[in-house]
Amino acid sequence: MAPTQSALLTELEPVVEANLNRHLAAAKAWNPHDYVPWSEGRDFKFLGGEDWSPEQSRLSETAKAAMITNLLTEDNLPSYHREIATRFGRDGAWGTWVGRWTAEENRHGIAMRDYLVVTRGVDPVELERARMDYMTSGYDSGDKTALEAVTYVSFQELATRVSHRNTGKVTQDPIADKMLARISKDENLHMVFYRNIVAAALEIAPDATMRAIADEVIGFEMPGATMAGFRRNSMIIAKAGIYDLRLHYDEVIMPVLRHWRVFEREDLGEEGEKARDELAAFLEDLDVQATKFVDRRAENRARTAAQTDHDLSVDIAT
Ligand SMILES: [Fe+2]
Ligand SMILES: [Fe+2]
Repeated sequence: MAPTQSALLTELEPVVEANLNRHLAAAKAWNPHDYVPWSEGRDFKFLGGEDWSPEQSRLSETAKAAMITNLLTEDNLPSYHREIATRFGRDGAWGTWVGRWTAEENRHGIAMRDYLVVTRGVDPVELERARMDYMTSGYDSGDKTALEAVTYVSFQELATRVSHRNTGKVTQDPIADKMLARISKDENLHMVFYRNIVAAALEIAPDATMRAIADEVIGFEMPGATMAGFRRNSMIIAKAGIYDLRLHYDEVIMPVLRHWRVFEREDLGEEGEKARDELAAFLEDLDVQATKFVDRRAENRARTAAQTDHDLSVDIAT
């Protein structure tokens, strides 16, 4: 019989402790202020300077949309802290991890906000309004069990890594790129921590863990649905190839599933087999959808390029 959630958490405690120690040895200390070009900073009108206006930003609309989405996602940290603290608890190695993880995540929001405000990359008034709204509504993953939550974050941390990394490239600013690459390294270490816990859970409770994996992959959503402009910004992000279905399948879902040897396992019972079959069917469809999306995007890009060429030749001819 599968252990209860609290028995499973207790059984996983030594694995959490070992991975916490591994994490602390692997994580490098860094300072958010090092990644901010403070010499570019100046006062806003409130202190006698000039308020933000669009021409001050060196970021493209795509880079702005991605930076705002990523920063607001980081900003909702109190909600995520609540999510994991209530599930993993505040005692022992689990509790230490919850605290450490929260402190590291906070660094991401600090670095990104300081960069955006100092460089005047986005409208700071809009940004503050969006932060207030998003944090006020908060994030609620529903009634995920601890096992589901740890499975979900294995994917979510990796998704965040991919998103930050590709956002850095899109900014075309070496400073932002360096900062987001640094943040991505943290996200990767977070993913490794959670992924290792799930790997251990698979050994202890293969069927229940396989069910959690199937459910979390099938129902996966980035936190942020209640964020202002989320749909519009997600579309911009997907169109630019910062985060899209193809990346989700190739760089997030499949590497984690391969690490867990999900499709090679021979220790599953009837329930686990059923969950794995559902997962396989879902993945087959996801792969098809991802290819369709990429094909459609390529067609649209070709059409836009042809239109631009046409407009240019009309301009030159007239
Ligand atoms: Fe983060
Ligand atoms: Fe993270």
